[in-house]
Amino acid sequence: MATMIAADSAQVRGARRLRGTIRVPGDKSLSHRALLFNALATGTAQVHGFLDGADCRTTLAALRAMGVAITETGETLTVHGVGLNGLREPADVLDCGNSGTTTRLLLGILAGQPFFAALTGDASLRRRPMARVTVPLARMGAHFSGRGGDTLLPLAVRGGALHGMDYALPVASAQVKSALLLAALFADSPTNLTGRTDSRDHTERMLRAMGAQITEHDGTITLTPGTPLIARDVDVPGDISSAAFWLVAGAAHPDAEITIANVGVNPSRTGILDMLHLMGADVTVANPREVSGEPVADLSVRSSHLVGAEIGGAMIPRGIDELVVLAVAAAVAEGRTTVRDATELRVKESDRVTAVVEGLRRLGARAEARDDGFVIDGSNTLIADTLESHGDHRLAMAWGVAALLTPDGEATTIREASSADVSYPGFWATLESLRG
Ligand code: S3P
Repeated sequence: MATMIAADSAQVRGARRLRGTIRVPGDKSLSHRALLFNALATGTAQVHGFLDGADCRTTLAALRAMGVAITETGETLTVHGVGLNGLREPADVLDCGNSGTTTRLLLGILAGQPFFAALTGDASLRRRPMARVTVPLARMGAHFSGRGGDTLLPLAVRGGALHGMDYALPVASAQVKSALLLAALFADSPTNLTGRTDSRDHTERMLRAMGAQITEHDGTITLTPGTPLIARDVDVPGDISSAAFWLVAGAAHPDAEITIANVGVNPSRTGILDMLHLMGADVTVANPREVSGEPVADLSVRSSHLVGAEIGGAMIPRGIDELVVLAVAAAVAEGRTTVRDATELRVKESDRVTAVVEGLRRLGARAEARDDGFVIDGSNTLIADTLESHGDHRLAMAWGVAALLTPDGEATTIREASSADVSYPGFWATLESLRG
């Protein structure tokens, strides 16, 4: 009953039972940041548990192209920081692949560099909105030119003398917040960010640990430039966004018990735990500890009677990437689940509102799109079919979980299954290992 991957499709059969104690790959957000920030620091740092997926590899390649030496020994990377002013002009266009985090965080760094650089990416990334970073970065003094009136990749950046600014973030995006904080390191005066600062706070934590002057007061984040960054070793925990696939599989499957050891549980990332709790899932959080300035724990899940829930508001930025797989839980839960306030889903690696609804319908579930989310009527028996990933890693993996919930023996085909490698290399093998 092995998953077969042929012509980039995975075939996944319904599971009789799910059992296992597993680990998930390193956190994607922390892996990008550990490289980028240590590259800008003075000294050498080791990054353990780095996510060796396609997205983080583009960050690694971009830094090397700007003269940063990064060596790899097994799961450990050693970053030789060049200091805030040590990056070199890249000789070629930087290819950010599928990675929005690479693109937007790099745009923030490049805004402060006295040289020219150009960024591009794959077809998905070239559709994603960049004005959310280029407009405020231009206000600080950087110059951009690119497609779509300087709002789409490929984008050229000419950085330089930046000024601090007061800016109200219009969307709860850690990529935007981080881009502005990174640019603020190079400015001539403090930057104050207000508005939607309620996104994941890994950047604030890590930059502060490296010596940056960042304060937060009543939702206002202030970065005062002028202090160098000091390289810091980072032990990257497992990614809760990857653990989410197994949390949903375990809660939604009628015969399941899964433990995921060593998962990052930063409160700005644990929306999925709150959402699943609202839906009646039996998830436990054990051995809470702090590792490299981030909360970490072991998560366990068992078969649960799931019920529909109203998901919206403050939970959304804390679980934006997990809404795709949550929709699979909603399809089998009893009653209606409504996801609102999640317009951001439309500008992710794919239009995830449209893609989720389309896929759930193919699985025989009742789902409807809304401008800012979706409505799913539950208690569906999922039917094996052929599902599209649209090259979106989280869709591919969510459909893998849905396939496990189809009747035993039926096979679902998931197209572009290798897109899982963007954030979760080894996903399909772990899925098979859980059949216990
Ligand atoms: C990320 C922020 C989120 C998230 C992405 C990773 C980050 O994007 O969806 O997977 O590491 O900062 P937005 O900032 O666009 O919401």
